[in-house]
Amino acid sequence: MRLTDQEKAMADGRDGPGIQKAMDLLLRYGEALGAERLVETRNVCSMFTASMPFQRDYAIRQGSMDAMLSEFNLDSQETVEIPPFRAFTSQLQIGFDSAHAPSLGVGEEMMRFYRRSEVHMAGLGAQLMNTCTPYQVGNVPTRGEHCAWMESSAVIYCNSVLGARTNTEGRESTSAAALTARIPYWGYHLDENRYATDVIELDVDVDSTEDWGILGYYVGEQVLERVPALTRRHGTIRTPNLARLKHFGAAASSSGGVEMYHIVGVTPEALTLEQALGRRAPQRTFRYGEAERRATYERINSTAGSHDIQFVMLGCPHYTIEQIWEAAMLLQGRKVHDNCALWIFTPRTIKALADLNGYTRIIEDAGGVLMSDTCSAVSRMIPPGTRAVALDSAKQAHYLPAAVGVQAWFGSTAQCIDAACTGQWRGALQ
Ligand code: F3S
Repeated sequence: MRLTDQEKAMADGRDGPGIQKAMDLLLRYGEALGAERLVETRNVCSMFTASMPFQRDYAIRQGSMDAMLSEFNLDSQETVEIPPFRAFTSQLQIGFDSAHAPSLGVGEEMMRFYRRSEVHMAGLGAQLMNTCTPYQVGNVPTRGEHCAWMESSAVIYCNSVLGARTNTEGRESTSAAALTARIPYWGYHLDENRYATDVIELDVDVDSTEDWGILGYYVGEQVLERVPALTRRHGTIRTPNLARLKHFGAAASSSGGVEMYHIVGVTPEALTLEQALGRRAPQRTFRYGEAERRATYERINSTAGSHDIQFVMLGCPHYTIEQIWEAAMLLQGRKVHDNCALWIFTPRTIKALADLNGYTRIIEDAGGVLMSDTCSAVSRMIPPGTRAVALDSAKQAHYLPAAVGVQAWFGSTAQCIDAACTGQWRGALQ
């Protein structure tokens, strides 16, 4: 790879062994991908805090955080001193909500270690946003900005909605990027890979958040890892808000591996279909009508059977304040059923706003819980005795049955709140 003088110096160890290890990792990674050079980044999303038992045990055994970071973040069995980060870096989700540790089965020893780990990472420069939706809480890269993000639902939002540029990175490459402010220049950093390859013609109106989730799931199944451009056969697509785009992208990156999409007239690199396609002909065209919508809904619900619901999980990806407001309004004056639990996940900073606005109180008075920092798929934590769960996220319906062995119903937020209050799934496709 072609390196600048500064990059050569980092690779030669001028800036210390931690930076040298990070550069070594990036160069091996970049060469494997065929990247010709690195690109500067000022925006990284990664996972640093030692929130998993195996990381804690490793750090305790080796007697240092640097040992844990060397092994799990830089792929180095040799322990090197980890210096402060050079790039602005957000911490993604961890394995539990420290405010609800006992109900998530996390003990005091783990909590003590976790707090130490958080202080250590903040000292290195990590922003402890602890969310899969950093773009909701202040990390909003600008159009064209080169980023190094992990977490598929965040990556697809970053590329498609914000017009910033990232590949789906891993814990190691993002950690190396935080230390060096560099990432290999390939994939979605390059103009030619960002053009649409496939066209999805919509034959139905897509409006609700549930509908956008179903559509995302369909698109992921059809285009896999290619780049779709969505257009309306007749008329225009009604502009989706943040929550709808978030659910669409999360679903498309779960049922397929979509990292970038265009919606003609909505997303920044698709003022027209021709622009989205880079003035090339599409390789494939799909038509999404009522039959496709209904069949996709059935597939998302394919694990469901029992109508008795023990758990309702909302907030995948982490809820916006608007979604918390909606859930609180649906819950007001009602009670969560004795046989059911309701957990809603959101970033810490949005929870603070929900506290201020009185939504947390409404949710808790009804018997629900508003949590931060994690989700059921990441933590693998669900209420004991759960056999069937209700979800308003196609992504979570895709992962949770496999992750924790439950049946999953997918539907609207209102249907999920109804399930929480009755202990029964009574939803159907609207
Ligand atoms: Fe976020 Fe967990 Fe969903 S990480 S996108 S809430 S599976």
